[in-house]
Amino acid sequence: MFREGDWAIFTDNRVSMMERLVSRRRLHTHWGYIEHDAVIGLEPGSIVETSRGKRLYVFGPTLADYVMHMPRKSGIIYPKETGIIFLWADVFPGARVLVGGAGSGGLLLGVLRQVGEKGRVVAYDVRQDMLDRAAENVRGYFGDLPPWLELRLGDIYRPEGLEEVFDRILLDVPEPWRALETVRRTLLPGGILCSYLPSILQVARFENLLRRTGSFALVETVEVLMRGWHIEGRAVRPQHRMVGHTGFLTFARFVKGGEG
Ligand SMILES: C[S@@+](CC[C@H](N)C(=O)[O-])C[C@H]1O[C@@H](n2cnc3c(N)ncnc32)[C@H](O)[C@@H]1O
Repeated sequence: MFREGDWAIFTDNRVSMMERLVSRRRLHTHWGYIEHDAVIGLEPGSIVETSRGKRLYVFGPTLADYVMHMPRKSGIIYPKETGIIFLWADVFPGARVLVGGAGSGGLLLGVLRQVGEKGRVVAYDVRQDMLDRAAENVRGYFGDLPPWLELRLGDIYRPEGLEEVFDRILLDVPEPWRALETVRRTLLPGGILCSYLPSILQVARFENLLRRTGSFALVETVEVLMRGWHIEGRAVRPQHRMVGHTGFLTFARFVKGGEG
């Protein structure tokens, strides 16, 4: 049942809006308003009517809904990439994961849920305002900062005092090649490195370097293209609009006693 303070997604199947339910507040839409009090107490999956008679479905947000609707201060890693990162980088429940940079917390939220309370996530960002945004978005989803998360203000290329080891390192920073010393010092041999980069020129520079060092195996880069289909009766075609380009994902396994 929806309670005050819960997030709700309102949708007519085309447009969706995310709102935190607060008593005596209204959601204003193109089709009139909905009183939050009319939603508090309903089961997710109910139908509600706006003041002008438009019927909307109301659900609890999935993690992907939440990430796509939450406030951002940076570009984010989209859920389509996050899903692949979890399997290709094998981010398992209980894993110790180093994240750089935290940004708006898009990737971080998924990682926190994936590793769960037996895991540990240390996330760096060079900007305090980014850490504040990420923390606010994480609190919005989990209710509070999960105890298995540590947010650190610092440079992932030269993190001072970082002595622990990690099973996985996930990077979304402009020059991941500058983080290789951090990776060598803190990634468990056999552990997996994943880097997200928007430009293929950056990818070429990074992947060539990874191969040259001799410290990494199974180096590969993939791009995740997700295309929706319009299906209505006999009208069946790919959707005209899609997210064309987001970024590339480079994965590599760290080798014990590699040359670099
Ligand atoms: C594109 S954003 C990350 C977005 C994040 N993956 C998400 O899904 O919300 C890149 C972040 O890296 C941070 N950053 C850049 N260089 C960094 C460094 N050397 N160490 C740590 N963070 C860094 C930036 O401040 C920015 O917040």
